[in-house]
Amino acid sequence: MPVITCIDDLKPIYRRRVPKMFYDYAESGSWTEQTFRENVTDFDQIRLKQRVAVDMTGRSTATTMLGQEVAMPVALAPVGLLGMQHADGEILAAKAAEAFGVPFTLSTLSICSIEDVAENTTKPFWFQVYTLKDDDFMRRLMERARAAGCSAIVITLDLQVQGQRHKDLKNGLSAPPKPTLKTWANLATKWAWGIDMLQTKRRSFGNVIGHAKGVSDPSSLTSWTAEAFDHALDWKRVAELMEMWGGKVILKGILDPEDARRAAELGADAIVVSNHGGRQLDGALSAIRMLPQIVDAVGDTTEVWMDSGIRSGQDVLKALALGAKATMIGRAFVYGLGAMGQAGVTRSLEVIQRELDVSMALCGRRRIADLGRDMLLVPEDFEGRWKTW
Ligand code: GLV
Repeated sequence: MPVITCIDDLKPIYRRRVPKMFYDYAESGSWTEQTFRENVTDFDQIRLKQRVAVDMTGRSTATTMLGQEVAMPVALAPVGLLGMQHADGEILAAKAAEAFGVPFTLSTLSICSIEDVAENTTKPFWFQVYTLKDDDFMRRLMERARAAGCSAIVITLDLQVQGQRHKDLKNGLSAPPKPTLKTWANLATKWAWGIDMLQTKRRSFGNVIGHAKGVSDPSSLTSWTAEAFDHALDWKRVAELMEMWGGKVILKGILDPEDARRAAELGADAIVVSNHGGRQLDGALSAIRMLPQIVDAVGDTTEVWMDSGIRSGQDVLKALALGAKATMIGRAFVYGLGAMGQAGVTRSLEVIQRELDVSMALCGRRRIADLGRDMLLVPEDFEGRWKTW
């Protein structure tokens, strides 16, 4: 096994182990993938100021998210189909997160169900909901999340309709994979993945199959999103869903200061500045570029978190220094899960924490609360000088 020193080291192992259709599902953005790429490259434009001769003893990456203590401000974002990246993937990722001391978010489009994850963990996790038309299904989903002890829900606001991902269409993405010749030819080379898969019963959407009515092919992500998602979603409906849950709510997928203000006014406990990892509106600006103005727009009326593009502890540091209270990671832990299961997720978290800790030290900061914009070098035109009409 190669020595894993950074998140990118996990990617080739992940790619070798997991069927192409699921690797491509994670490792893609919509259309030209411009936003997907810029989410990562825009982090590189920000530089850090080195400081010396500062007492670095007793450093800590610990802080809180929604009042909950965390080992570092990095939660596992909701990612669909984790149980196709590795057998029982959601359970494994949730266990790794719990042991590490960071929050895990279960996606509605997970393979393991809410109940499966609850039975296999001991601490509350978060549950992500899409905004679906079927009120009955939404109510039952929330009831199930409540019964499973989930401590918050994450409402995804940026996926009323799905951005087109070329690779998924070409690969005929489905869970479980449909038995076409091309798929089988690829599966035949992924025997370690397949052996694990044969040993679990969890191979399709555990929260949906047997629970949702009137969806013609729930094994296909594209048909499910086209048929079940609520195109009429507006702020009134968001407020209804928040009330339906009645507990802590994280509103995810915000990329505009005005939307951020609306979300804060509704009483969101946290908002996530995000463009869905570049998987929705291609051509949108990166989340890290939009972060400062959103932080400035909402002040401390809600916790501002960010995701999209984080692949290192230095990326986390830059987001926090710009004003995010916390972050979420998706692909950065999926690479680990696909490569090595639970141990791989743990490795991803260790890598990120180490990078965060050492970079904090070299910048002369000992605590998360000490991070601020004064430690960064940001190009004058980082946010872009765009025409206002
Ligand atoms: C679902 O949220 C996806 O991005 O595939």
